[in-house]
Amino acid sequence: MISIKTPAEIEKMVVAGRVVAEILQTVKARVRPGITTRELDQVAYRLCLERKVKPAFKGYHGYPFSLCVSVNEEVVHGFPSERKLAAGDIVSLDFGVLQEGYFSDAALTIPVGPISPQAEKLIRVTREALFAGLAQAQAGHRLGDISAAVQERVETGGFSVVRHFVGHGIGRALHEDPQIPNFGESGRGPLLKPGMVLAVEPMVNAGGYEVEILSDGWTAVTKDRSLSAHFEHTVAVTENGYRILSQPDSETPLF
Ligand code: MF3
Ligand code: CO
Repeated sequence: MISIKTPAEIEKMVVAGRVVAEILQTVKARVRPGITTRELDQVAYRLCLERKVKPAFKGYHGYPFSLCVSVNEEVVHGFPSERKLAAGDIVSLDFGVLQEGYFSDAALTIPVGPISPQAEKLIRVTREALFAGLAQAQAGHRLGDISAAVQERVETGGFSVVRHFVGHGIGRALHEDPQIPNFGESGRGPLLKPGMVLAVEPMVNAGGYEVEILSDGWTAVTKDRSLSAHFEHTVAVTENGYRILSQPDSETPLF
């Protein structure tokens, strides 16, 4: 069942989304060659304590950290570690909080120093695929319209959509109905209604779509070890289009 949030609930999710976006912005600003991925997790965790919010991922099905940090061929759920980021890497940061009973979730991929033209294109196409999907997040459209739009943008860019992981409804739980695949057919699936809140999150590989999970039980990597990128926003479906909830208070958008 896809829950419909009241305007008052949406306003609470705006607050949770603001915290997610502002913490992610701070973490993002710390990314540079030489920083360890654990330091990025520690920045996120400390800001959660300061702002008195719960890091949504820590302890979720046993996930041990506040932040997911996925480097290069890592798709999602990368463990923060003593690994130092290096110029030429791409790094995906995925983060969520629980604030006053509501979750928010967002992710982005950024370059570390100068990166290859192919990596630049992968990041650009993945971000564009998210926004192509969000453009379909309108009352009266169907869930498959989002999935198909994401897939279309990715595949015309020459990349492939990860099938093993999906986006999701979000609210009082981190993962609510519906599941939101990043591939599919327009005109199919549940009708979108005002008050639905969705976390749309394309994961895009430069090579094949297949992934495998490393022996830590979490880190997903591309099977062919090609690069992978990930963008995610929490959005509300409104009477007129979508509203991004995972956005900072400032003028500058998260991405
Ligand atoms: N953005 C991811 C998701 O919504 C992050 C989950 S990581 C986990 O599924 F540790 F919480 F599982
Ligand atoms: Co998510």
